[in-house]
Formats: sequence, structure tokens, C-alpha cells
Amino acid sequence: MIIGVPTETASDETRVALTPPVAKQLVDEGVTVCVAAGAGNGSDWSDDQYREAGCEVLDDREAVFERADVITQVRALGATDAESLDPYRDGQVVLGLLGPFGLEDETEMLVDREITAFSMELVPRISRAQSMDIVSSMDSVSGYKSVLVAAEALPRLFPMEMTAAGTVQPADVFVVGAGVAGLKAIATSERLGASTRAYDIRPEVKEEVESLGAEFVELDLETDDASDDEGHAKEQDDEFIRKQREMMNRVIADSDVVITTAAVPGRPSPELVTNEMIDGMDPGSVIVDLAAKGGGNCEPTVADEIVDYEGVSIHGPTNLPATVPHTASQLVANNVKDFLDLLLTDGELDVDTDDEIIDSTLLSHDGTYRAPHETDETDDEDDD
Ligand code: NAI
Repeated sequence: MIIGVPTETASDETRVALTPPVAKQLVDEGVTVCVAAGAGNGSDWSDDQYREAGCEVLDDREAVFERADVITQVRALGATDAESLDPYRDGQVVLGLLGPFGLEDETEMLVDREITAFSMELVPRISRAQSMDIVSSMDSVSGYKSVLVAAEALPRLFPMEMTAAGTVQPADVFVVGAGVAGLKAIATSERLGASTRAYDIRPEVKEEVESLGAEFVELDLETDDASDDEGHAKEQDDEFIRKQREMMNRVIADSDVVITTAAVPGRPSPELVTNEMIDGMDPGSVIVDLAAKGGGNCEPTVADEIVDYEGVSIHGPTNLPATVPHTASQLVANNVKDFLDLLLTDGELDVDTDDEIIDSTLLSHDGTYRAPHETDETDDEDDD
């Protein structure tokens, strides 16, 4: 079995799918790992480090596609906008973030060339799959970095300071959505000394929010069925959204920083922060919208831009993990390794669709394309 790590094709991508320490684990298990020259440059892993780990370093990404049975790339197919499909060989296996909800031309290629494709975005939310969950790993990095982006842009300090020159009040931070990214944002904001509040449509996260030292804003709008079987928030009806907006008006007007993280996978992000709400914020306030890829949670959000709306800056970064590439790559590599452990039996590929993790992530195999499916039944395994 030969595993290949090509260079990434997206212009903003700095991460790499396998780091030298993780590649070494595979090499020690008898797997051949080939890496395109420079694949680790963006995340500070050198070709020499890959060689020392026992990897073959090949001239370019095409050479990796020629040699490898299994390609692992952080962003491939529908998750990157600049990829040529030419190098894929018949019967090859690809795994990584594949943008499964936006595939178009790629599906034909996957079928024609009988590619086996595993989309890591579709890793199910079960305990056993946590160590393979790239999305959660990256959400955690994004949550951390979103607070640093906000702190950098805010013309105020985050912590309370009592100095000879007077007392500085802490910044008021409001985090909308307390999932993986939101909880990390709350923890980071608290560490920086801000006064942090958070809201989530799922009332069950209140305890977690409070355990991080933040206040959970009760909007008195909780519903009993806010989550689907996988723990994602479900889309809510118009009436609910209208009520939620009215309640959020007050909290947002009192905030210096708002960080929004509410995403519904495969669907446009719900618009939660309107221009009217932002009108209530002081000039100089900052919003970081982590749902920008799906259109954003805030009305003025533009993906990958900083919009100035009435003196409030609204940041819509879509790839914050790439701004922390070394750590992000370490996490991705660990996730990929654990997925490979599941996939390989005695060094050979074993596509066992009876395994829930394989079944959920498998996009195409043996010339058949399987559109990403929504889970509509409860699993035997516990979700948490
Ligand atoms: P997500 O990325 O689906 O959404 C982010 C957050 O926004 C969620 O907390 C969601 O409830 C919230 N949200 C969505 N719409 C909203 C709205 N209209 N107003 C306010 N908040 C809204 O969520 P994420 O981060 O993936 O986590 C969801 C849950 O799944 C968490 O409890 C997490 O711990 C769990 N999880 C479990 C995993 C496992 O067991 N392997 C892996 C990943 C997450």
C-alpha cells in the first residue's frame, strides 16, 4: 500500500494532510508514504523531515498521483477551487475534505475512473469517530483564532485593568453558537479576560458554557427538538428566527465583540445578526463570522473579506485553521492516521460499508456515486 501526500491546490491552503511524525508511524507499520516536494512548506515541515521519517519525497504532485494507491489531501475535489482532475488514476483512493455538498464535474470523474473517495466532512458524530473528525479539530482551531482576530481588531483591551491611570472595563464578548468552535472561542475569550456571554439554540449547552466561566444568555426560545440525530442544529422556522432576532438585538447592542459560529451542514448559514442589530453596536466593535463559508450568520458578511458597516468591522474568514498551519496539520494528520487505521487491514484497503464511519464517509466506490446522506435514524452507538 502506498499513501501519497500531494501539495495542496487551494491558494489559501497552508496545511498538509500528513506530518513527518505521523508519516513515520505509518512507515514503521510497513506502509510506503510518498510526499510531493514542498508539501509541508506552508506548515513548517521540511522535505528533509519527511525523508528522515522514512518517506519518499517526489518531484511534484503529479508524481505522487502516479505512484500512490491512496491520496490524502487536506482539501481536494469540491473543497478546493483550483484542482485539476487529470492526475487521478483509475481505481485510486482519495480521502480528505472533499466538499461533498458542492461536487459537480467531479462526480463524473469519480464514477468514470472508479475512484474510492472518502469525504472526511461526513464523519459521523459518534464517540468512536471523534479521533477522525477533521471538522471538529479545525472548528476548535477556528474558535481559538477567531478571538485573536477580534482582539487584534478591537481598539480596546479584552481584560479588566486596574492601573494608576484608571480602571479599564473588560470587553464584552458575545458568542453565538456553542458547538465545538463556539466553546473554544468562549474559553479563549475568558482566558483573555473578557466578559463573555454565549447563546445557543440548544439549551443543553448551558452547563458547558457556564463551566468555562461565561454567562449563558437565556433567550426564552428554547425548543425541545433543536438538534438532529447527529447533534447539529436543525433549520428553524421563520417565526422562530424572527423571535430570536428580537431577543438578540439587546445583547448585541451591549457587545464589543460578536463571534458567530452557527452553521447547518450542507445548507446556507442562518442569518442571525441583522444590520439593525449591528446599528446598536458602538463604532469600533468587531464581528467575526465563522459561518461565512455558508453565506454567514450576519447580514453584511462577505466571505474572506473585512466589511466596514457603520464603523463595525465584520470579518468573514473561511479558513482560519490555515493561519495556524503547524498545529492544524498535526491535528489533521492524527485524524487521517486514525481513519487509515480503520480503512487498512493488514496494510490493504478494506472498504467495509457495514462500518458506520466508512459507510457515512464513502462518496464513491467501484463506479457508483453515493450522494451524502442525512442521518434520519438514531444510531446504536451513543452520540455525545
Ligand atoms: P455545528 O457546527 O453544527 O453548529 C455550531 C453551533 O451553532 C451548534 O452548537 C449549534 O447548536 C449552534 N446553532 C445553530 N443554529 C443556531 C441558531 N439559529 N442560533 C443559535 N445557535 C445555533 O455544531 P458543532 O460545533 O459541530 O457541535 C454540535 C454538537 O455536536 C456539539 O454538542 C458537539 O459537542 C457535538 N459533536 C460531537 C462529536 C462526536 O461525538 N464525535 C463531534 C462533533 C460535535
